Amino acid sequence: MKQAFAAAALAAVVAIGFIAWIAADIPPRAEFVPYAEPAAPAERSYLQAAYSPLHFRPAIEAADDAQCLACHREVLDDKVRVDSPAGRKAELMRAWYQQTPTYAGEQDTFHRRHLVTPLAKQLMNLRCNTCHEGHDPREEAQGAAADSAQQADAGFTLRKQVNPETACLKCHGQFPWQLMGLPGPWDEHKAVFGNNCQTCHGAIRTKRHEVTYLNAAAIEEAGKTAADTCYGCHGGRAWYRISYPYARTPWPDMPAEVPEWAKNRPVQSEARFLKQTESKP
Ligand code: HEC
Ligand code: HEC
Ligand code: HEC
Ligand code: HEC
Ligand code: HEC
Repeated sequence: MKQAFAAAALAAVVAIGFIAWIAADIPPRAEFVPYAEPAAPAERSYLQAAYSPLHFRPAIEAADDAQCLACHREVLDDKVRVDSPAGRKAELMRAWYQQTPTYAGEQDTFHRRHLVTPLAKQLMNLRCNTCHEGHDPREEAQGAAADSAQQADAGFTLRKQVNPETACLKCHGQFPWQLMGLPGPWDEHKAVFGNNCQTCHGAIRTKRHEVTYLNAAAIEEAGKTAADTCYGCHGGRAWYRISYPYARTPWPDMPAEVPEWAKNRPVQSEARFLKQTESKP
């Protein structure tokens, strides 16, 4: 029994040695390439970029413009065509908003008008994530699939990459003359008030624009002499038939009684835009 085992063991050792001896003699295949971890591609794939975490919350909330512009330079670089494909010269065309007294310069793109034109830089401090709060590149409707944005997600609306009611309406709604006690639309009655909002707003709702995306001091300065600057964002460039339900920030000497229309209004601006220095109630 013992001898049989020793013989088997010896045979195994000889066999392994023989195989090793043969293997050592086999040259590697000419086309053999040893495995190595692939180097990261210099440029990420389109899908990787489209699904960049920066398109989603929470990363988009903290993103700065430079991070977005690293991939989306076209947003600021592109200019409108000198002439349309049908041959119409842009400089001869007029959109209605180009007639507003504050409109300066040639026609320009939507993004540039909000981020880099002189008026935009003077009055505003908009950033990519002021308007873009994240959207779903695959499914542009909330709640459409188990893994798409939740129904309650109001960061964007159906097939838009923004939420117009919370973004655009703030500066492109109607002038709510009814609740201001004016006899009619601003354009018809502005002369009575010296074409100046300060006639009333020197004392009413004086705590305003204290948000990160507006330059409050510059706005007040520009509104001193004429209403055009103020009206521009409060009816003069209205894309909507409604007005924005602004927060009703308490101001000094504010009457204690809350008017009926203001009963459901918040008393401070959206939290994400409050200035850090401001004391929160
Ligand atoms: C790594 C590159 C990259 C970064 C960084 C990036 N994006 Fe994008 N983004 C893309 C790609 C690629 C797409 C898909 C474009 C398409 O399908 O037309 C896209 C799509 C979008 C779209 C939708 C365009 C459409 O027509 O559907 C918006 C809006 C957008 N990005 C905004 C942003 C914002 C805001 C930021 C910064 C917070 C940002 N992106 C950062 C690459 C990037
Ligand atoms: C004033 C609000 C606003 C700001 C600020 C803004 N965007 Fe947009 N952006 C929009 C709207 C509205 C669209 C069009 C969405 C749609 O088609 O549904 C858009 C579209 C886009 C698209 C799709 C391609 C295109 O040009 O239509 C990209 C990419 C984009 N934005 C990136 C950016 C980046 C990057 C920034 C910051 C540098 C930025 N946006 C700032 C509102 C804004
Ligand atoms: C914080 C205020 C503010 C917000 C928010 C805002 N806008 Fe504007 N918008 C302006 C101002 C100010 C101008 C005029 C800029 C100028 O004359 O240079 C303007 C101009 C425009 C123009 C004319 C640009 C051109 O082609 O000449 C369009 C269109 C427009 N806005 C649409 C929108 C849309 C859509 C949104 C929401 C995604 C939006 N705006 C959000 C203040 C705002
Ligand atoms: C006749 C006086 C008067 C004039 C002139 C006037 N307003 Fe008002 N405004 C009011 C009153 C009153 C309120 C409501 C105050 C309150 O909250 O109780 C108001 C409210 C507002 C609101 C907040 C609306 C809301 O829904 O919360 C805005 C924005 C506003 N005014 C902008 C302007 C601008 C811009 C001008 C000039 C183009 C102007 N107003 C001219 C009296 C006036
Ligand atoms: C660049 C666009 C812009 C201009 C110019 C502008 N506003 Fe506003 N205004 C806004 C926005 C946006 C809000 C809402 C701010 C917030 O988020 O609380 C607002 C809010 C207000 C409110 C409500 C404030 C509150 O919290 O109770 C009043 C009143 C007002 N503006 C009057 C004026 C007057 C008067 C001027 C001219 C001196 C003026 N606006 C110029 C964009 C503008």
